Amino acid sequence: MPIRQILVTAALPYVNGHIHIGHLVEYIQADIWVRFQRLCGHRVAYICADDTHGTATMIRARNEGRSEQSIIAEMNVTHHRDFADFAVAFDHYGSTDSASNRRLVGEFWQALTAAPGVVHHKEVTQLFDPKAGCFLADRFVKGTCPNCHSPDQYGDSCDKCNTTYSPADLKNPVSTLTGATPEIRSATHLFVRLEPLRAAVEAWMNRSPAPLQQEVANWLKGTFLAPDKPLRDWDVSRPAPYFGFEIPGEPGQYFYVWVDAPVGYLASLTDAIAAGKLPGPVASWWPASSAHAGQQPAEIHHFIGKDITYFHTVFWPAMLTAAGYQLPTQVHIHGFLTVDGEKMSKSKGTFVRARTYLETVGDPAYMRYYFASKLNRKVEDIDLNLGEFVDKVNSDLVGKVVNLASRCANFIAASGLAPGNTTQWPAEGVQLLDSFRGGAEEISALYDSGDYAEAMRRIMALADQANRYVETAAPWKLAKDASRAAELQIACTIALNLFWRLTVLLAPVLPKLAEQAGALFADRITHWDDLQRLHVGKPIAPFQHLLGRLQMESVKAMIAASASEVPPPRPVQEATAAAGEEVAADDAAAVDAEPLLPTIAFEDFAKLDLRVARIVSAEEVPKAKKILKLTLSLGGSHQRTVFAGIKTAYPDAHALVGRLVTVVANLAPRTMSFGVSEGMVIAAGPGSTDIFLLAPDSGAKPGQRVH
Ligand code: MSP
Ligand code: ZN
Repeated sequence: MPIRQILVTAALPYVNGHIHIGHLVEYIQADIWVRFQRLCGHRVAYICADDTHGTATMIRARNEGRSEQSIIAEMNVTHHRDFADFAVAFDHYGSTDSASNRRLVGEFWQALTAAPGVVHHKEVTQLFDPKAGCFLADRFVKGTCPNCHSPDQYGDSCDKCNTTYSPADLKNPVSTLTGATPEIRSATHLFVRLEPLRAAVEAWMNRSPAPLQQEVANWLKGTFLAPDKPLRDWDVSRPAPYFGFEIPGEPGQYFYVWVDAPVGYLASLTDAIAAGKLPGPVASWWPASSAHAGQQPAEIHHFIGKDITYFHTVFWPAMLTAAGYQLPTQVHIHGFLTVDGEKMSKSKGTFVRARTYLETVGDPAYMRYYFASKLNRKVEDIDLNLGEFVDKVNSDLVGKVVNLASRCANFIAASGLAPGNTTQWPAEGVQLLDSFRGGAEEISALYDSGDYAEAMRRIMALADQANRYVETAAPWKLAKDASRAAELQIACTIALNLFWRLTVLLAPVLPKLAEQAGALFADRITHWDDLQRLHVGKPIAPFQHLLGRLQMESVKAMIAASASEVPPPRPVQEATAAAGEEVAADDAAAVDAEPLLPTIAFEDFAKLDLRVARIVSAEEVPKAKKILKLTLSLGGSHQRTVFAGIKTAYPDAHALVGRLVTVVANLAPRTMSFGVSEGMVIAAGPGSTDIFLLAPDSGAKPGQRVH
């Protein structure tokens, strides 16, 4: 079989959130495929990165009084660690906020602007937050649905009546950033005409072998690519302030995050090669479109979720066409994860972070196997049924696979594996070993096509046969009769070789088990054909515990931990006051913009160590426009350094010295780009010049606890 050169990508997770079990469906799905192809001896690059740009990152940086880069650096480490702990083996985990991405996006842009009539300017009206000084993406506006009048709906659609509308039609709109009433403003945006690139995209979709699952192709042909409709122009720019790459030649205009995100695949590949993690050149993995004449020298496979289909099957092929790059060989699209039949929910504790799973359930093997047993070529959603999860991994992995080894290994720990003259072995054992070979061929085709669910069924059917063999041979009975020692040794040798073959078949899903099997036989699984190898006439290593049963209690602990770690949902905002209604007393704008949180137990309050502190020094931080470095005295030698995002309201740092403030004294220290912050100073207000330090009356003494 010729060696294939395969580039695999998984979607680039947004930098703003933590990796959760929904994400893991995709990264594990792609990882299994990558490990399978590597096991077959193909050259594979598995690339990912954080998707960093956009308003959300900018706002988070503002709110936390730190730079976007410090958020990106922190999340990159966290994301990468989460993936590594789930045995997701990327060759490189980069970032879209990289020099290589800026350069490549520039090249794509140049190609688009060089084509006549493709890029043009157009006026767009959008909601603008006068307090934050920026345009508001739809999800940063809330208000009352113009159709059904439900309060607290997002700027683009109502989740009560499912109507979609323009944010300008929302009643009583409120910016969720500052609570301000947004204004309608117009701004110039840049658009890319996609219609001239449509023929290339359609030709790609109709290629053989098909780059898209049939149901996806049908959906596209019935919607966006319906013959009677031209493709809508794509709005590719956002006016400043926006966190992203400024558009060359268009000062104050930034590339919309979805322009530079997919180019991030290429940038991350480029960085991987530059770092020596993959052999180059880039073009050997991602050739120019002109490089191949009919035959594809290199394959490009994207794994994505169904929600981002349009970006990857229309925009991205159009951009690649314009820039002269080879189009993807295949886009593998999966459905969404549900838990016990419902959408993942923070309040129900089913929105489980990767880290929470690792801290409660522990071994990623359970999750990897369970997802494998559910994944196929369909786009349908995948349900994590918690009861089935426990039953399945215990019955299959522990009951059928691990037990096969644990029931036999100890009986021959002393004698070692039987000698290799298999003519003396029982025929049914030898036949069974042979039948695994035939099974392996079909299972290999199933992995390659992405039907892991069927592959797992076949593997477990083989495991059932292996266990029936052990039941019949009954080594525990043979062991009681010293005269049958040779028979015992042969039966256990057959069973252990069946176990070896199963671990090769499962190696793409369960890499750690494959390693453990390697240790048992003093061997290594590096190739699919290692399955053929018969281990005979040598000792085995002392049997090490492979994988324990999954307890329902750990799964319950995972759900409980997830329910408690996320802030409880804010109560539904009541209808805002009618426009123009004057209120003499304090108005409700602030409390409406940030509604009251649900009641907490006294114990939760008691965990918070609030103290009176005196500002003993206040300094500016070079390059940080919003930050002051405060040294706080809690009395005696107790001091805290705190970086506070208050400079916009307190530009004269020195005037703060001597003031009393309230500080959260037991907050975990946090590393920022300018130093470690050892607490948080309490302040109110929406930000900018409206930040008010909450100062205790002057009678209070530093160090006193605020109860
Ligand atoms: N940043 C974009 C992708 C840019 S690719 C150039 C994005 N990020 S994401 O973090 O929201 O999602 C990353 C991937 O995880 C997407 O493919 C998405 O479909 C997938 N999933 C996110 N939540 C999921 C589930 N609940 N279930 C299954 N997959 C899910 O989209
Ligand atoms: Zn509605």
